[in-house]
Amino acid sequence: MPDAAELLSQIRISGAIPRHVAIIMDGNGRWARDRMLPRPLGHRHGMKSVRAVVEGAIEAGVEVLSLFAFSKENWQRPALEVSALMSLLEEFVQGEADELERQGVHVRFLGELERLAPAASAAVDRVVRQTAHCATLRLNLFVSYGSRAEILLAIRSLASDVAAGRLTPEQIDESAFTERLYTSDVPDPDLLIRTSGEQRISNFLLWQIAYTEFSITPVLWPDFGRKELYEAILDYQQRDRRFGRVPA
Ligand code: IPE
Ligand code: IPE
Ligand code: MG
Repeated sequence: MPDAAELLSQIRISGAIPRHVAIIMDGNGRWARDRMLPRPLGHRHGMKSVRAVVEGAIEAGVEVLSLFAFSKENWQRPALEVSALMSLLEEFVQGEADELERQGVHVRFLGELERLAPAASAAVDRVVRQTAHCATLRLNLFVSYGSRAEILLAIRSLASDVAAGRLTPEQIDESAFTERLYTSDVPDPDLLIRTSGEQRISNFLLWQIAYTEFSITPVLWPDFGRKELYEAILDYQQRDRRFGRVPA
């Protein structure tokens, strides 16, 4: 079995690196349950995987890494789990801010951030400001995010521009729409990875993944690391992306 370094050398000779990799980080609860641990411990171990994929993405030369950390629907989980997740978010951004800046990681948070508790929100603002000048990797952390809600926000913004006479209905095209999404300043994902074997999108980036390649792995998120990231990238490099055309 090749290790991460061998996989990275293979990636370097196997073709284009995906510019934008998105990950639905799933399976923390099952990882904890398998060890008879409380679910929050699964989330805590999942933070190690975040560190590993950030480093792995930087080394591979990925430009944008999008991580689905907490969905709008996840607010419906038991209050104890939600508060554990929020504390971990705060701890992660506080504990990692300096290292992320040193690595050149420009951190952004995407989602309904107004729902975050003041302490989490302040920590989020701080790391975003601290890393705003970084340009090695763009790290999008999706928190309190739901794709349908994002799409509705964009539609509402278009509708109010039309109502105010700033835009005609004919001017509503793909670019007018996408510039109103949270992801307006990044390319669509080339590769979407979902861990824990679930074969669904769970309301993540519905518009943006029109031509994204999928990689579903049974590995639970706390067990996912640089090696698993590189396996997914290598597999991606074997795909024939046709975008509806006939192969060259
Ligand atoms: C992913 O792990 C983390 C979040 C959704 C916040 P889960 O907590 O969904 O873990 P499973 O799916 O229950 O195993
Ligand atoms: C999707 O995982 C959301 C995140 C990974 C943050 P879920 O565990 O919430 O998704 P479902 O409930 O299995 O669809
Ligand atoms: Mg889950």
